[in-house]
Amino acid sequence: MTYKSSTQAVPEVSSIVPRHVAIIMDGNGRWATRRYLPRVAGHAKGVETVRTIVEACVERGIEYLTLFAFSSENWRRPAEEVSLLMRLFVTALEREVAKMHANDIRLKVVGDLSRFDAKLRQLIANAERRTANNSRLTVTICANYGGRWDIMQAVNKMAASHPGSTDFSEEQLAEHLAMAYAPEPDLFIRTGGEERISNFLLWQLAYTEFYFTETYWPDFDGAALDEAVASYQQRERRFGRTSAQVIEQKKAS
Ligand code: IPE
Ligand code: IPE
Ligand code: MG
Repeated sequence: MTYKSSTQAVPEVSSIVPRHVAIIMDGNGRWATRRYLPRVAGHAKGVETVRTIVEACVERGIEYLTLFAFSSENWRRPAEEVSLLMRLFVTALEREVAKMHANDIRLKVVGDLSRFDAKLRQLIANAERRTANNSRLTVTICANYGGRWDIMQAVNKMAASHPGSTDFSEEQLAEHLAMAYAPEPDLFIRTGGEERISNFLLWQLAYTEFYFTETYWPDFDGAALDEAVASYQQRERRFGRTSAQVIEQKKAS
């Protein structure tokens, strides 16, 4: 049996740039090990990639870039690696914030910051305050972040703000998530070859398009981002509807 072409839904290739791209920057350690370098050399190179990708997002008109820098589980790593990562975070903030501000970029850092030392917390607060009114691109760094932590802190805040209430909506919970200021991610990218979420944005990824690449984060660049965006543009986002409905809706708009 053949289907009539008029009823056959053919996904269209769109030219729409994702508004919000969320990335698990993975593979720094393996990138370094392959070169007989210490793992931290991969993290240092990874910071350079962050700079490249921030610029690439500005050029492409992406409005929100969210980067998973340190998960709530990464404390399990050797103490030396953890402290080197913290030091890199401090130097990156010290070096990059002025340039971000000059380029109209807003910086946000989300996660359980209470575990960071006072100096780092102060740097974060200053950077956020300084760039708060910038509007070209919002860069969010997820640090000591976990999707489960985020949902639980939202539940607790929501319950505290409505004492006695037990009947909450999804919208009410979403208002209290750490990234309530941003739309949900359109495109999720994970570099480094693993195909898992590793406790990243659990709530917000419900309808995000996923893209996995073998490329290690230090090797990721503008061209690699374009490949991910091109893959995104071939997807048909149905949000539970049928393909035919999506096509009708597009025609009507
Ligand atoms: C990602 O790279 C960076 C952080 C988790 C801080 P990894 O350090 O996880 O690199 P691999 O996965 O060991 O190669
Ligand atoms: C996820 O990478 C966290 C970050 C990139 C910050 P991991 O390398 O920690 O993830 P797992 O342990 O392989 O799942
Ligand atoms: Mg890893």
